[in-house]
Amino acid sequence: MLVDIHNHILPGLDDGPKSIEEAILLATNAVDNGITHIIATPHHNNGKYINSSSIVKEAVNNLNKELSKKDIPVEIFSGQEVYFYNSIVEDLENDLLTLANSGKYLLIELPRNHFPVSTFETLYKILLRGYTPIIVHPERNTVLRKDKQKVYDLVNKGSLVQITASTLLGEHGRNLKKYTIDLIKHNLAHFISSDAHHHVKRPFLLNDAYQYVQKKFTENQVTYFSENAKHVILGTEFQPMLPISFQKNT
Ligand SMILES: [Fe+2]
Repeated sequence: MLVDIHNHILPGLDDGPKSIEEAILLATNAVDNGITHIIATPHHNNGKYINSSSIVKEAVNNLNKELSKKDIPVEIFSGQEVYFYNSIVEDLENDLLTLANSGKYLLIELPRNHFPVSTFETLYKILLRGYTPIIVHPERNTVLRKDKQKVYDLVNKGSLVQITASTLLGEHGRNLKKYTIDLIKHNLAHFISSDAHHHVKRPFLLNDAYQYVQKKFTENQVTYFSENAKHVILGTEFQPMLPISFQKNT
């Protein structure tokens, strides 16, 4: 069982595949990566796309039907990549989708160019309700990029962090690659996922990323990432490795 928890595989909903044919090609690419379970996470509330839970669920059903017709051995589950906004907490019970609809993990994207002052407070409220926020690709937020200690603070206060396979593999430059490696070294990365959008331009790359982790770190580290992703699909809790601060005295 290999799970990808962040990708844009559903056709026509966002900047992912434009057609069902493109979605099938992307699913085939996932299978080539050994992936068996895909949590589809279309953009939601990011200023460009709104994908309510009913829209996502219908698209997931349609794609699963097409995949089983074509005997492509991968199953799609519903989710959203929720762009951060202050009233996330109020929408948790009705409008927002947890990953794999398990009622536990919520995928959250922070703005690119700033770190909202309400971030910690909002995440705290989400945690109080019994949900676990997963912050996606911190390396794309300019504030977190400059200040890794802020990532430590987020994790220390109960959020989890997902890094992107292509970034770890160096596709977005050496600096960002090093950034994601540093997060792994400080136990501040809990998941690697594809953020796949297109079978050629932004494919899954999960297999390559796991192989890289095995070479650069250990087999145990690969197991940690893949087991954590399994917990997300099951909606079960796990014990994250203790985060290591970037400040020497803490
Ligand atoms: Fe994404």
